[in-house]
Amino acid sequence: MSAAQRLEDKVAIITGGAAGMGRAMCERFGEEGAIVVVADLDLAGAEAVADSIRQAGGRATPLPVDVTSKAQVDELVSRTVAAHGRLDIIMNNAGYGQAKRMLEITEAEWDRMQAVNVKGVFFGIQAAARQMIAQGDGGRILSTASIAGRRGNPYTAHYNVSKASVIQLTMCAALDLAPHGITVNAICPGIVDTQFWRSLDEEWSAIEGWETGEAWQRRTATIPLGRPEVATDVVGLVAFLASEDAGYITGQSYNVCGGLVMT
Ligand SMILES: NC(=O)c1ccc[n+]([C@@H]2O[C@H](COP(=O)([O-])OP(=O)(O)OC[C@H]3O[C@@H](n4cnc5c(N)ncnc54)[C@H](O)[C@@H]3O)[C@@H](O)[C@H]2O)c1
Repeated sequence: MSAAQRLEDKVAIITGGAAGMGRAMCERFGEEGAIVVVADLDLAGAEAVADSIRQAGGRATPLPVDVTSKAQVDELVSRTVAAHGRLDIIMNNAGYGQAKRMLEITEAEWDRMQAVNVKGVFFGIQAAARQMIAQGDGGRILSTASIAGRRGNPYTAHYNVSKASVIQLTMCAALDLAPHGITVNAICPGIVDTQFWRSLDEEWSAIEGWETGEAWQRRTATIPLGRPEVATDVVGLVAFLASEDAGYITGQSYNVCGGLVMT
């Protein structure tokens, strides 16, 4: 079996699939033969990604979801199973960031960050696992954490905590689900050129009194591999972790960051 067929006929949900790394993952999964459910708050964006996968000869279904709602996440899984008969893979990738001085982060901002980045991942894991356990033949659960979950940064306390939680959830869920043959892993991207970092750069540069773009320039200048990360840099690892070849890997969170963080 060639790499291009690694995910043949696997039914895969990718949240946050309308843009950035989620979009890149959806397109790679489509190329590798998966039936891709492109799930996002932005339904028009998800439809555009599904169209591009179909135009390239793949299979894809766009579905709306707000991952902060357990009911909507459950419905995403049930609609996927109604349309495609089963669920083999979920990638809990939807998330967002914000740069703000720690003393100015409000209760609502703290709660929203944890709702999207932690609760959304937790209920994604739970809904997918229930379906996979009922199917009885294992499954692959993946999430997007961040190198921010492994260290401190100024201005992103609520974000870093949310991503440390994703790394913890990955380990805990891996143990709960191992008896069912379901593996649970995460990726930790670095500084990736998506809308996420464009917003973060504006906020971060404004806090410092810099021109827009300067936070991005300063942070990316420290990357050992010498260039900013792009969305497609993560897709090879994600497709591998979703494949049969990764069957003996669980509870792990992998840095994909050009060497910025090594622990
Ligand atoms: N860009 C980076 O440098 C970076 C680094 C490490 C980790 N990450 C993480 O990677 C993931 C993807 O980020 P990206 O950089 O591709 O960002 P992006 O902004 O390009 O894409 C994020 C997508 O998630 C969707 N989304 C946001 N909130 C949602 C919700 N409540 N329900 C459903 N969908 C929602 C958005 O509509 C968007 O399509 C996020 O979890 C982010 O925290 C990003």
